[in-house]
Amino acid sequence: MAVLMLTLFLCLMTGSVFVVEGGDPTIFFTWNVTYDTISPLGVPQQGILINGEFSGPNINSTTNSNVVVNVFNNLDEPFLITWNGIQQRKNPWQDGTAGTNCPILPGKNYTYHIQVKDQIGSYILRVNSRLLIPVPYPDPADDYTLLVGDFFNKGHKSLKKILDSGRNLGRCDGVHLNGKVAKGDGKDEPLFTMEAGKTYKYRICNVGLKTAINVRFQNHQMKLVEMEGSHTMQNEYKSLDVHVGQCFAVLVKADQDPEDYYVVASTRFTRRQVTATGIIRYKTGKGPASSELPPPPVGWACAARPNPQGSYKYGAINITRTIKLANTAGEVDGKLRYALHGVSHDNEFKTPLKLAEYFNVAKKEFEYDTIPDNPPEKTETIQVKPIVLNITHRHFVEIIFENHKTAIQSYHLSGYSFFAVACFSASAIETGTWSPEKRKNYNLLDAVSRHTIQMFPKSWAAILLTFDNCGMWNIRSEVWDRFYLGQQLYVSVLSPNLSTKDEYNIPEDAQLCGDVIGLPKPKPYT
Ligand SMILES: *[C@@H]1O[C@H](CO)[C@@H](O)[C@H](O)[C@H]1NC(C)=O
Ligand SMILES: *[C@@H]1O[C@H](CO)[C@@H](O)[C@H](O)[C@H]1NC(C)=O
Ligand SMILES: *[C@@H]1O[C@H](CO)[C@@H](O)[C@H](O)[C@H]1NC(C)=O
Ligand SMILES: *[C@@H]1O[C@H](CO)[C@@H](O)[C@H](O)[C@H]1NC(C)=O
Ligand SMILES: *[C@@H]1O[C@H](CO)[C@@H](O)[C@H](O)[C@H]1NC(C)=O
Ligand SMILES: *[C@@H]1O[C@H](CO)[C@@H](O)[C@H](O)[C@H]1NC(C)=O
Repeated sequence: MAVLMLTLFLCLMTGSVFVVEGGDPTIFFTWNVTYDTISPLGVPQQGILINGEFSGPNINSTTNSNVVVNVFNNLDEPFLITWNGIQQRKNPWQDGTAGTNCPILPGKNYTYHIQVKDQIGSYILRVNSRLLIPVPYPDPADDYTLLVGDFFNKGHKSLKKILDSGRNLGRCDGVHLNGKVAKGDGKDEPLFTMEAGKTYKYRICNVGLKTAINVRFQNHQMKLVEMEGSHTMQNEYKSLDVHVGQCFAVLVKADQDPEDYYVVASTRFTRRQVTATGIIRYKTGKGPASSELPPPPVGWACAARPNPQGSYKYGAINITRTIKLANTAGEVDGKLRYALHGVSHDNEFKTPLKLAEYFNVAKKEFEYDTIPDNPPEKTETIQVKPIVLNITHRHFVEIIFENHKTAIQSYHLSGYSFFAVACFSASAIETGTWSPEKRKNYNLLDAVSRHTIQMFPKSWAAILLTFDNCGMWNIRSEVWDRFYLGQQLYVSVLSPNLSTKDEYNIPEDAQLCGDVIGLPKPKPYT
């Protein structure tokens, strides 16, 4: 079944907080998902809205909140919501990927139960630090969310049709900031307002389909304080790249003459640079923003900046398995498919992989270890089938992402955060492909823990993590056309002694579909 997967965008704050005595607060939401006409770049097209908002609602939650979201599907296609970067511990049942959940059918509703556990930061959902957890910077005067992304003047159905017919998406039609583009005619409403002398926190996320974006503030520096839930070294930057699916938080001090300034977002690693701006206004400001925009950066930079705490001694753990995932692309029946080692993930299965595994009918849907860990260099033909890797619970695994193409890539792992120990660009000393001796250059002390990592053209990246969260988790290219055409896979991590200490049982109200309808429930974990 073709499932539309929505990754969360945000904007508005709703919901009421219900505090359980002695427990973690539970926040309830009702989301109504509909189509409507949107025109961020002035061209009307079909967009998907949550409660009438194009950029989606904001969950204003604190860490350890339980979040209950009743989602009504008023679209004409099955769909799921996935929670980018919110780690569901022991709970693959709510992850909202096609491999873990049956989709919400048109006209139906489903209630997600998620917990935002021990996570501080800038996810696509906004998570405020619980007051008890100190943050390594003074309270900002306000906390703003800036969503940037590329934009195509076609709805998702038209974009899918283009890919289904074997063509590629081409370049984006524009870039937006919070769904808007300043016209620069002096009549633009500001995106944000600052008071002179105060410091503001901006959480910046790339919610686009495929293009890396550089963000910079006219005349202002950004102090990077947080990246995907990790505190970072607090360095100052004139500009920062945000790759698709990534988020970070910066502090910006309103230390300039009180007038308007532009915040600039421009595409990176594209043949033609597309730029858009938004207005930042000083409260007592007089005068428009100068038309002289800060220039884009020159060269490439790896954004994985060390965490000063270096809190976890991951460098001392022995690697038990190395998995190399290399991009390949080719044609199947005359149409473009993207693949990993010659296998393009087939996402059109009848039964979500996790459910098939849980109900013991996995053999009908997929085979484990579909691709080898370290395959030969050349793969000629491309097969289309679900890719599932069987990973042993608590193994410490090294994953190498090799990008043999000239386009930039980023990969996201659901259910986990990982240590990005290396991420080299072809222009740096480390060129070409990975080999075991590259390990001596890994950052084994203080790498940032995160959930999305980019690969520069013709380069590779390495991550380390312990697979201690049971479930069936998606590793996917965040570049949407690559994801849609097969550059994704699942890892299955099973509880060795079927314990609820490791994995929750399937919820009573879980939706069932495909081959598992009517099957007896397996013996629950205890
Ligand atoms: C959702 O929106 C649709 C279209 O506006 C409306 O008909 C429907 O009543 C709404 N449903 C809920 C549960 O709010
Ligand atoms: C968001 O939540 C925090 C912490 O609960 C609260 O202090 C703040 O006022 C909330 N903001 C909005 C706009 O609801
Ligand atoms: C659907 O919404 C109704 C009304 O809010 C609610 O009672 C019911 O539990 C929801 N169903 C599911 C499966 O979430
Ligand atoms: C890692 O492997 C080395 C060599 O096999 C061994 O000596 C060492 O004890 C191992 N360390 C841990 C923490 O298991
Ligand atoms: C997965 O790996 C574990 C541990 O290596 C092994 O015991 C199990 O049989 C494997 N399962 C499958 C289905 O390959
Ligand atoms: C199985 O569960 C028990 C009790 O929680 C735990 O002590 C043991 O380590 C687990 N076994 C494995 C192989 O993880």
